[in-house]
Amino acid sequence: MRFFSSKKKPAGTNDLMKTTNEKSRAVFHELKVKDIRRQTDECVSVAFDLPDNLHQDYRFFPGQYLTLRTNINGEDVRRSYSICSCPFEEDLRVAIKKLDGGVFSTFANEELKVGDVLKVMTPEGNFHTPISEQNKKQYVAFAAGSGITPIMSIMKTVLRNEPNSTFSLFFGNRTSNSIIFRDEIDELKNVYMNRLEVHHILSREDQGSDFTRGHIDGVKVEAFSRSFFNPADVDEFLICGPEDMIRNIDESLKSLGVSKEKIHFELFTTSTEVVGQKQKAKSSGETSGNVSKITVLLDGEETHFDLAYDGKSVVDAAMDAGADVPFSCKGAVCCTCRARVIEGEVEMDMNYALEPEEVEDGYILTCQTHPRSPTVKISYDE
Ligand code: FES
Repeated sequence: MRFFSSKKKPAGTNDLMKTTNEKSRAVFHELKVKDIRRQTDECVSVAFDLPDNLHQDYRFFPGQYLTLRTNINGEDVRRSYSICSCPFEEDLRVAIKKLDGGVFSTFANEELKVGDVLKVMTPEGNFHTPISEQNKKQYVAFAAGSGITPIMSIMKTVLRNEPNSTFSLFFGNRTSNSIIFRDEIDELKNVYMNRLEVHHILSREDQGSDFTRGHIDGVKVEAFSRSFFNPADVDEFLICGPEDMIRNIDESLKSLGVSKEKIHFELFTTSTEVVGQKQKAKSSGETSGNVSKITVLLDGEETHFDLAYDGKSVVDAAMDAGADVPFSCKGAVCCTCRARVIEGEVEMDMNYALEPEEVEDGYILTCQTHPRSPTVKISYDE
């Protein structure tokens, strides 16, 4: 079966691109590994076979990610990885960079084989902008290391589906050998010569210019803006990399007059510093010793359990009670555990994934949620 087809459908009308109002609850399906490609010494990309009956479920926006799940040494491990292919290609593919001590990433880089079966969650994530053939936009992206993955998907889609848009990529790596998708990016530069500009910034290799040496930070972004783009002319800024880099660039762009609506970033992990900025949903004072009666609604079925105000998160307690609730990062980042409070009061420890309007509408990240009233009813079905 062909999953993606670039030849049969004209740009902008590919039915594998998720439509804006397409929303469904994330669920796992077992998918067979179709291909494993070594991208660098420390990174592989993994493609999955999609049976016809699951084709629709795995439609995605460029920039979204898949959560992979498997048993490694007796432990149920799940991790999220951004999709690096785009909706018109023939692959549903993620890139997995090996991290020091990373259980899943080491397994994927060293043990995973073609034909193995993994549990793969349907695509999730909010890191994307609407793609349209009518767009005439200027995109500027800053990526570091494996942060290129979602940007690669967006960049390929924009270049192919928006013939009047331009894309500038500033890509930070240690050395030229550690550049993920180096050949593919070079090919794109050849195909889209007049619309794609790529700047490699290397921290451990001297390319003979201050512009291209070191790490991408706010100071560099200001320097880039004097030479390569006018911030006022750029329609969308995309940032993906370590949290410090994201914060630094975000501040720098704002100081250059860029409005926050134009800045999109993908945060993979959180640091303790950011934890201090936790966003509260609703709070009602004392927590110690109180217990709440929780009802969780999932696929129309109710699960009931008691939960202490200062106990586990709703998602952990719901799993203990036997509900197969969705989650991935458990760090307030990915939004997979999103649900809505139907009744009662709750409090979230952290929130980096929900928009203020969603919180206002009662949406919560259940991996961060604790009860604050005697009864609470939460629905994953809304
Ligand atoms: S599991 Fe990722 S935000 Fe809750």
